[in-house]
Amino acid sequence: MLTKLFRVMILACCGWGCIGAQAASSGGMPPDVYLGSALGKRPDETRGQKIFQQHCLQCHQAGAVGLPAQKIPALAGQQYEYLIKQVVDFLDQERSNAIMHQQLMRSGLNNATSIADVVGYVANLPMNPAPEQGPGNQLEQGKHIYEGFCASCHGRTAEGNGDLWVPNLRGQHYSYLVEQMQRMARAQRGNISEDLHRMFTSYTDTEFQSVADYLSRWSVQ
Ligand code: HEC
Ligand code: HEC
Repeated sequence: MLTKLFRVMILACCGWGCIGAQAASSGGMPPDVYLGSALGKRPDETRGQKIFQQHCLQCHQAGAVGLPAQKIPALAGQQYEYLIKQVVDFLDQERSNAIMHQQLMRSGLNNATSIADVVGYVANLPMNPAPEQGPGNQLEQGKHIYEGFCASCHGRTAEGNGDLWVPNLRGQHYSYLVEQMQRMARAQRGNISEDLHRMFTSYTDTEFQSVADYLSRWSVQ
């Protein structure tokens, strides 16, 4: 268990400036050629919509709003660069999830043009206005944690920052957010920097629940 002081140190040395460098120097930035190539493309959203309907809709649902009962995330309105990195990480097996791997490989999505097209489509959809929420009993604690230890990277309104691979946390389902934080703490999401992993190990499950609940109630308007 790490201390509060450690969290402050992480924030102090991992502000806006150094995340990109961290990602580049750790397992965070995939070495895969698709990443740079996909980022450099101008997405064809019409083609992306077709790919989405054929290969992603069944799980991520119409409008890419996700399916909380199965911990399937909303993708709508997520940061473009972050999504590209996640898809490439799935393909590289840097981020493990068997279902996603199978789908992505089978769909013929493993080329930069298709990745850019489908991600361009979902990133421009409106965020989910009614994500699954938590029980609502620890919102003050969630606010305190978010403002003190998360907002410096994810932004004051949790909008994220595409240039630094930081995801938007609004319009996202409570149980998905909790599960991902637990995975990052337990080193089950291999595509993050060591510093980020260590920061997440300093929280309890109850703290994850409180901050996820707080985030899930944020208006996306
Ligand atoms: C069989 C169900 C299924 C299908 C089909 C599917 N996904 Fe997923 N997707 C998931 C699940 C489950 C997760 C959560 C993975 C995890 O827990 O790490 C996920 C996560 C993601 C993420 C990470 C989101 C984040 O916030 O980090 C992206 C990006 C993604 N999917 C894109 C796609 C795309 C693009 C397609 C279509 C080519 C697709 N998915 C098809 C089930 C699916
Ligand atoms: C040093 C910057 C930094 C800090 C501080 C930080 N994060 Fe993050 N967070 C990131 C980055 C970068 C990612 C994306 C990692 C990747 O590429 O998979 C991320 C990913 C996440 C995800 C996964 C989202 C998804 O769609 O799968 C959640 C949830 C999250 N952070 C919540 C938090 C919370 C809550 C806090 C505060 C306790 C926090 N983060 C503090 C940088 C940060």
